[in-house]
Amino acid sequence: TNRTLTILKPDCVRKNHVGDVIAHIQKAGFKIVAMKMTRLTAATAGGFYEVHKERPFYGELCAFMSSGPCVPMILEKENAVADFRKLIGATDPAEAAEGTIRKLYADSKGENIIHGSDSDENAAIESAYFFAKSEEVANLA
Ligand code: GTP
Ligand code: MG
Repeated sequence: TNRTLTILKPDCVRKNHVGDVIAHIQKAGFKIVAMKMTRLTAATAGGFYEVHKERPFYGELCAFMSSGPCVPMILEKENAVADFRKLIGATDPAEAAEGTIRKLYADSKGENIIHGSDSDENAAIESAYFFAKSEEVANLA
């Protein structure tokens, strides 16, 4: 098994879709290893999305990600990173496949409800950004 890092973004919390999205994720076979509700500052959101800092939407992205509480989680499953990206669907919900989380719940490319790590290496870096090792559940019974 391996792990991925997800964030239920502020639009997910605002629209009260947290429970539905977590149920969707669990039904797809992902185990929750760590979870919290937190609010990012513009600076911590900026650090998280540092790779996009030259992109025209960076300011908008940081403002959105710090606009309210979000729910980061570490998830575990075989082939977690790729399977989770498939479960959430394309970045733009208009292009996301039927039945994906973004197709079902997201409104736009900017407000697309959920994040998923894009590599094992980034999953580890992003997990450490939100969670201390002591916050990860040791035994997923
Ligand atoms: P994440 O899982 O959030 O990393 O999304 P992604 O990997 O599908 O997309 P990418 O890493 O390319 O972009 C990161 C995030 O930036 C997206 O999820 C969007 O929230 C935001 N974003 C991407 N493109 C645009 C855009 O054209 N406009 C705006 N406002 N936001 C964008
Ligand atoms: Mg990305």
